[in-house]
Amino acid sequence: MNPASGMETTQQKTPHEILGVIFDMDGVLTDTIEFHYQSWEKLTLEMGIPFNREVNDTLRGLSRRDSLMQILGDRYLPEAKIAEMLERKNRYYLDFIAEMTPAHLLPGVDDLLNELRSAGMKTAIASASQNVRAVIPRLGIADRIDVVTNVYKVKRSKPAPDVFLHAAEQLGLSPNQCLVVEDAEAGVEAALAAGMWALGLGPVERVGAAHIVLPSLQGVKWEDILGKLHTAV
Ligand code: BG6
Ligand code: MG
Repeated sequence: MNPASGMETTQQKTPHEILGVIFDMDGVLTDTIEFHYQSWEKLTLEMGIPFNREVNDTLRGLSRRDSLMQILGDRYLPEAKIAEMLERKNRYYLDFIAEMTPAHLLPGVDDLLNELRSAGMKTAIASASQNVRAVIPRLGIADRIDVVTNVYKVKRSKPAPDVFLHAAEQLGLSPNQCLVVEDAEAGVEAALAAGMWALGLGPVERVGAAHIVLPSLQGVKWEDILGKLHTAV
C-alpha cells in the first residue's frame, strides 16, 4: 500500500519504469507444448486414460505433478504409481529435448532478445519446468539471459506469483519494473498477482487478463510492446 494515498502501489505503476523482462519458457521461447503433448499422450495411451489436445492446452503453465492430477481427474492412484508415471512421462519428454537445437526457438524470440540487450534491459526465464536447465543451452540463448529459475526454487507453483517474484529479486528489480511474457492463463494470473506487467501470447480466451495480448512474438519490436503498454494503461 502507498501510505500517502491508501491505494495499492501496483495501480500507480507506469510502463516507463520497466527495466527487465521475465520470460516463461514453454510456449513462449520454444514450442515444447507439442513435446509435452506427445509425452503425455504416450503415457495415457499406455495407461488407458483419456487424453487429447484440448486437455493438453489446459496444462499450459502447470507443473508436471499438477498436470498429471488434472489428467487423472477423480481417478485414484497410489502415490508410488503417480511417482512412476511422472518419471516415465519425463523420460519420454527428455528424448524430445535431446533433439532440440536453436531451430526450435519460436519466431521473433532471437531478435527480441538481441533488442533487449541493446536497450539495456535485464532478462530472466521463470518456468514451471524442472527441465529448464536442460532446454535453455540447447536453444543457444543463454548469453542473453541474466537469470534462469523455476518453480522448484520457490514454495508455490504458478498461478502463485512466487517464481516471478523470485526472478525479479535475482535481477535486483522490483515487481513494477518487470514485464512478464506468458502463454498460459496460470502464468498471466501469476504475473498479475506479482504486481508485474503482463504480455500474453495466444488467444484472448486464454491470456486475455494480461495488460496486452499478441498472437506471438513474430516480428514484434521492443518499442511496439512498450507502445502498446502505454496505450493499455
Ligand atoms: C510448463 C509447461 O512450462 O512446464 C507445462 O507449460 C509442463 O506443460 C510444465 O507440464 C512442467 O514441465 P517439466 O519439464 O517439469 O515436466
Ligand atoms: Mg508456457
